[in-house]
Amino acid sequence: MFSINKKADAYRFCKAFITNQYARIAPGSYCRYTNETGRGMGQETAEETANYFDLCFSEYIGMLNADEKIDDGVILEYGPGDIPGVALLLYAWGAKKVYCVDRFSLISISRFNGEVIEAILNLLPLAQRQRASECFNDYGKPHSGFNENHIQYVVNKKGLSGFKDKVDFVFSRAVLEHVNDISATIDDMGNALKQGGVTVNKVDLKSHGLHRGNILEFLTWPALLWNLMYSEKGTPNRWRLDEYKRILNHSHLKVMFIKCVETCSKDIIDEVRPFLSKQFKQLSDEDLSCLSFWFKAQKP
Ligand SMILES: C[S@@+](CC[C@H](N)C(=O)[O-])C[C@H]1O[C@@H](n2cnc3c(N)ncnc32)[C@H](O)[C@@H]1O
Repeated sequence: MFSINKKADAYRFCKAFITNQYARIAPGSYCRYTNETGRGMGQETAEETANYFDLCFSEYIGMLNADEKIDDGVILEYGPGDIPGVALLLYAWGAKKVYCVDRFSLISISRFNGEVIEAILNLLPLAQRQRASECFNDYGKPHSGFNENHIQYVVNKKGLSGFKDKVDFVFSRAVLEHVNDISATIDDMGNALKQGGVTVNKVDLKSHGLHRGNILEFLTWPALLWNLMYSEKGTPNRWRLDEYKRILNHSHLKVMFIKCVETCSKDIIDEVRPFLSKQFKQLSDEDLSCLSFWFKAQKP
């Protein structure tokens, strides 16, 4: 826990503070240096990565009602990572156009990423494969880059679209826990959606490898120190379920559901509770136990 081993805390703080300044001054170089894919996995094959995108796509579609069809829809995806695999599948299955919005410029068609895109194309039936092939500047050639008429990548400092009544669907997965200002992103979603439009999001509240021992230990660092160490790197903002509920309730979106899909045990909470940073001390066991959740909302 923070403050139990002061020497280790001081060392970690200094190292993370310096790299945070590096990320602030040169975010592009920092992403290249850390080899950031956005998926945070280790060694993986092109087929495994393609299957991951296929799973993400299927889970989004599985969250939609029968009358919420992506066909001919304009879609916004926040934080695609380094491969717009979900966007490619959305377009293949009928979307009119997909915008991918990010704070960091991660998309690149490296050799491996080109293989992943080929593997995604191989998962598709003929008609959808033909449609996906239109997404590239040269038909069927991923290395020619993405055709902006079909998949458009937008990168800016806040990771916001700035759209107004423009899209039918908004999707994100493992993104909201990274954004610096959740309210601003939820407002951006609400502005970007057309009336009746729907947003589906998966949020991962785990530490992303930033805990020692207890999986909630990363919540023991005071907010100021955490921000000084991580604010520019896209590491988790640490907000818990209660904050998302509060922001959604104050937004213009109508929440259709919030489903917690991963939880931790009471033992883990009891062990960490005496050490929690001020901002988390008052949270209920239920809010603290949620480690990942889905939410769906609609613009009324
Ligand atoms: C963990 S990755 C998830 C990538 C992809 N959605 C997936 O499931 O594989 C997080 C994504 O959020 C983006 N991101 C990180 N920090 C952000 C911020 N502060 N604002 C907006 N997007 C951010 C990253 O650049 C990256 O694309």
